[in-house]
Amino acid sequence: MKLMINGQEQELDLAPDMPLLWALRDHAHLTGTKFGCGMAQCGACTVHIDGQATRACITPVSSVEGKSITTIEGASKDSKVTQALQAAWLANNVPQCGYCQSGQLMSATALLTQKPKPSDEEINSFMSGNICRCATYQSIKTAIKQAAASLA
Ligand code: FES
Ligand code: FES
Repeated sequence: MKLMINGQEQELDLAPDMPLLWALRDHAHLTGTKFGCGMAQCGACTVHIDGQATRACITPVSSVEGKSITTIEGASKDSKVTQALQAAWLANNVPQCGYCQSGQLMSATALLTQKPKPSDEEINSFMSGNICRCATYQSIKTAIKQAAASLA
């Protein structure tokens, strides 16, 4: 199966119904995308498919053939929005255990790409599917606003 991952075509030996998350982690060796719940409930596995934040744990690889798949590894290299968010994340000491944070950054990147100046309500609503057991929600919101200001 041919998948376009972070701008590069990769030919991988995959069952069509394999979740994209396994293909990324176990076959493409991109381990920045995390497994949390496996049921689209936590957001740890968030990647972008054609720019849309998508839960890789419930996305069969057969559904993303021919589409553009972006992981945290590609976004942190190629996306100015992700880079601004990462700088704000560091400035605000957002990560605690860190496990949820690549998913948080991928959702935040999708948010700022669609809405460069989100309101508090829009941030809360868009980010509500990303769970953080270390409860970094307030610092995530502060960092998103700081990144939005730095990109303006
Ligand atoms: S692992 Fe995919 S949403 Fe939790
Ligand atoms: S930083 Fe620990 S789960 Fe979010």
